[in-house]
Amino acid sequence: MRAGQPEEEGKIFVEAEGREGTKRQLIERVAIVGAGTMGSGIAQVFAEAGVAVTLVDAAPTALQWAMAAMERNWSRSVEKSKRTPAEVDSARSRIALAHDIAAVGEADMVIEAVFEDVATKQGVLRDVDRVAAPEALLATNTSSISITQLAAATERPGRVIGMHFFNPVPVMPLVEVVRGLLTQAETVARVLACVTRLGKTPVEVHDFPGFVSNRVLLPMINEAIFCLQEGVADKDAIDAVMRLGMAHPMGPLALADLIGLDVCLNILDVLQRELGEDKYRPAPLLRKMVAAGKLGRKSGEGFFLYEG
Ligand SMILES: NC(=O)c1ccc[n+]([C@@H]2O[C@H](COP(=O)([O-])OP(=O)(O)OC[C@H]3O[C@@H](n4cnc5c(N)ncnc54)[C@H](O)[C@@H]3O)[C@@H](O)[C@H]2O)c1
Repeated sequence: MRAGQPEEEGKIFVEAEGREGTKRQLIERVAIVGAGTMGSGIAQVFAEAGVAVTLVDAAPTALQWAMAAMERNWSRSVEKSKRTPAEVDSARSRIALAHDIAAVGEADMVIEAVFEDVATKQGVLRDVDRVAAPEALLATNTSSISITQLAAATERPGRVIGMHFFNPVPVMPLVEVVRGLLTQAETVARVLACVTRLGKTPVEVHDFPGFVSNRVLLPMINEAIFCLQEGVADKDAIDAVMRLGMAHPMGPLALADLIGLDVCLNILDVLQRELGEDKYRPAPLLRKMVAAGKLGRKSGEGFFLYEG
């Protein structure tokens, strides 16, 4: 069978060169650690693709929150006739919830989607490495942390890879597949096939700060903030130029509010520090807004006001 072709519902196969020759690799069960915005979306798309999912989160209310988010998406897709109630029932039945990291033990692949913090992610990956099956793949949904650095926290760096999904996961077609310095070719092949089976498009990139997506996007957002700070134009005008002149679906300041201004600042700090170039220096206005608690949509105010 060719890479990524399904043999039966609920199974993701890929041919891979093993030491004993060609053998079939199978991803039929995934575990996702971190049931926040991204983890819940990732769980939803795997369950919809017929894969058994174990969703793990340490916080008591996170799992309920994640299921409620999925239920809202599913209600909408049934209303719009994109899915039948039976399809939704079947996707829901594939999801198991757990608080204990030991629940990842059965998975063929574990995807980490916890807070964007090196120590937190390394701690989770170290724990996962101890309890996951020895041949299981470990993927991280980090937006900016080095895959090679995260892989070093495990005893299996060849089977660690970046799977950078985009928000909202059920809607966005791209997954940046990030190859760390020690990631094996077989790991990359299995993940590329897996992403394709989810109905998404994988794009393979190498492990450099911000990968491609945030290395290109964040300097644009930062420059828009410098324009606002320097009075080149007001916020509506800056966003209008980029929407109407560059055909961007939303302006950079509105997009920054959507991403979260704290997240934007964090990624720019990583780019400046790791690449050592001042062109990534965060605009002082961005730093000031984060310090004032104006974080964008999630706090009700960023460059724009959000009611409710
Ligand atoms: N939100 C986005 O737009 C976006 C887009 C792409 C990638 N990412 C990346 O995805 C990751 C998750 O982001 P998010 O927005 O979903 O965050 P979030 O804050 O919504 O969720 C993180 C979840 O991780 C859980 N968690 C933290 N430590 C844990 C631990 N030790 N064990 C188990 N669970 C733990 C928290 O309880 C929380 O539910 C980050 O690395 C982020 O950079 C986010």
